[in-house]
Amino acid sequence: MEKTLLGIIGSPRKFGNSELFVKEVYRGFPEGWRLRLIRLPELDIRPCRACYRCLFDEMRCPQDDDLQIALDALVNSDAYVVAAPTYFLGANSSLKRFLDRGLSFYGHLERMWGKPAVGVGMAGIEGLEGQTKLDLDRFIKLTFGDLRGTVILYAALPGEVFVDDERKNTARVLADALLKKGIETNGIHVACPLCGGDTFRFLSDGKVRCMLCSNSGSYSLKDGGLRMEILAGKHQMFNDMDSAKAHLEWLRSMKDRFFERRRDLKKITVHYTRIGTWIRSKSEGV
Ligand SMILES: Cc1cc2nc3c(=O)[nH]c(=O)nc-3n(C[C@H](O)[C@H](O)[C@H](O)COP(=O)(O)O)c2cc1C
Repeated sequence: MEKTLLGIIGSPRKFGNSELFVKEVYRGFPEGWRLRLIRLPELDIRPCRACYRCLFDEMRCPQDDDLQIALDALVNSDAYVVAAPTYFLGANSSLKRFLDRGLSFYGHLERMWGKPAVGVGMAGIEGLEGQTKLDLDRFIKLTFGDLRGTVILYAALPGEVFVDDERKNTARVLADALLKKGIETNGIHVACPLCGGDTFRFLSDGKVRCMLCSNSGSYSLKDGGLRMEILAGKHQMFNDMDSAKAHLEWLRSMKDRFFERRRDLKKITVHYTRIGTWIRSKSEGV
């Protein structure tokens, strides 16, 4: 049966660099694969209301918007490529809007787990990609994908990504990474040994924390290079399926904890009810 590569486009720009690059990645696929495309910024994906209903019963979000369309596309794909432009030093917010509804991903954990996935971030000015790579890596990890690599490419005008034919080779490398496990795609020198992330925060106690999996550890200089020793903490979110399932159980246990502690919590919040005046959306009237 035909397999599906899903291209998740985080750019509103039609025939923009993100879209063209995803199509070029697909060109590196053999027969027997089709490309389905989804443009996240044009979907109506609303903010999470923190009701936690998606963690219980049918495990579906009660909001009637386009979340399910995007989720179904992901669940029914065999591999995916996420491409997004940098907007103000981070990936386009449509990626985060989707991720903020991530509690509803747990209802599909088994079917979403471990699909090969790669990320592509566009930036118009060399060096000004900010946190875009981390945003793409995180998108893949939190959608339970098997992260095979993320690249940042510099291109400003629509189509500029292929002014240089060399970029087509990069697309081919990413296609290979999706098709065959274990290909090094982005030449990372220093990576978190637990999750492969390469964005770190250096803490005041001399420790270092991986900004992708949020585990901490120590660092040292070895053979002229920086070496990270990161240890798995007690609360893992996605490094293996068991830890994702344990995180789901922890989230579910919040409901009981809330009912147990409701009275005490109310004693705290009651002191904050009459402070300040709210500025409301114009859609709510005055
Ligand atoms: C609102 C906006 C903000 C942007 N911010 C950045 C930025 O912070 N850094 C950067 O390098 N490029 C920035 N860019 C440039 C885009 O990342 C670049 O044009 C990219 O190629 C767009 O990809 P697309 O064609 O797939 O939409 C910005 C573009 C827009 C429209």
